[in-house]
Amino acid sequence: MFDLIIRNANLPDGRNGIDIGIRGDRIAAVGTKIEASAKEEIDATGRLVSPPFVDPHFHMDATLSLGLPRMNRSGTLLEGIALWGELRPTLTRDALVERALRYCDLAVSQGLLYIRSHVDTTDPRLVTAEALLEVRDRVAPYIDLQLVAFPQDGYYRSTGAVDALSRALDMGVDIVGGIPHFERTMSDGAASVEALCRIAAERGLPVDMHCDETDDPMSRHIETLAAQTIRFGLQGRVAGSHLTSMHSMDNYYVSKLIPLMAEARINVIPNPLINIMLQGRHDTYPKRRGLTRVRELMEAGLNVSFGHDCVMDPWYSMGSGDMLEVGHMALHVAQMAGVDDKRKIFDALTVNSAKTMGLEGYGLEKGCNADLVILQARDPLEALRLKPNRLAVIRRGKLIARTPPRVSELAIDGRPSSVDGSEYAPNVGD
Ligand code: FE2
Repeated sequence: MFDLIIRNANLPDGRNGIDIGIRGDRIAAVGTKIEASAKEEIDATGRLVSPPFVDPHFHMDATLSLGLPRMNRSGTLLEGIALWGELRPTLTRDALVERALRYCDLAVSQGLLYIRSHVDTTDPRLVTAEALLEVRDRVAPYIDLQLVAFPQDGYYRSTGAVDALSRALDMGVDIVGGIPHFERTMSDGAASVEALCRIAAERGLPVDMHCDETDDPMSRHIETLAAQTIRFGLQGRVAGSHLTSMHSMDNYYVSKLIPLMAEARINVIPNPLINIMLQGRHDTYPKRRGLTRVRELMEAGLNVSFGHDCVMDPWYSMGSGDMLEVGHMALHVAQMAGVDDKRKIFDALTVNSAKTMGLEGYGLEKGCNADLVILQARDPLEALRLKPNRLAVIRRGKLIARTPPRVSELAIDGRPSSVDGSEYAPNVGD
């Protein structure tokens, strides 16, 4: 006897016609035909059932603040940072919590149930950390939220940042952040990487740095980050976010760098929407894409997971909390349009990101947490193309969000697969 059985599911790994039996908050059985009853059944009708989406890089303290206190007129990264600097002193805990909770509601509706958010620790009031620690507790029943102490204006460049980061970690922020390319000099950047890795090693915490978010091919802090990761024994627990300078680096240098990153088991987090929007701004033509070397890093065995980074904030006026939008952009900019490529892109939104965040019990195997999403698509390829509705979102065995099927969708071969959508609507009960 199960509490819930999801029948006739297509799984991301290509298995079709699978039943998933859930008991309590765990997946208790996965097979082609579960001969048992359940208190409730959902017929997925040959639709994709995936583990939830995972966003390993976000800024929940800035999200949904678009237009406060004014719009980013140039649309550049640096004006975004300056604009955030204007907004920061006016932030209140209540306003931060309200915006973050609104975003979390949006995320749940998109099947996004795990988020790693950076928390700007520049303002010594640390109202951002206070607010997001409250949010982390309040959303825990439906979202796993990890927080990174992030010295947005530089660990050494900004007065008081060293002390503020330490205090944020004391308050319970989970991860050590950094921004070495924004320090005053390359040597300050390298020193910040060493200091922050040392703090992580001493406190037993992971590291996730904004690293080399620039088109400057000489911005090579990822080399230092990999070396310090090995030095402090942090292999597998360190993430390099953005790494856009790698796009512009000399190929010979990269042939030495990527093996070093692999040795350090660096988790690579490109942010395709933001990178394609903000990089290459000093170029005329040809204009660089600014996304890091996704295919090469994957082929070298690095764990690559994509982040959303921003939704309607000083840096990015777009976004909807939909990780498939992130993957859609990634496969275009990285030129990964083959069948196997698309599957790798989908993995980078799910299982790879779960590895980056160190999630336990993630997946669709027996014994995993009963967290899953039913999409109005048949497989990961169609999901990336259509960015379909999330028909049902289940967390720890409980249905927590539903979206009605979209009508008049097109099948993968271009023929209408459903006139009104009802044909594929899973029966999730009332
Ligand atoms: Fe970021």
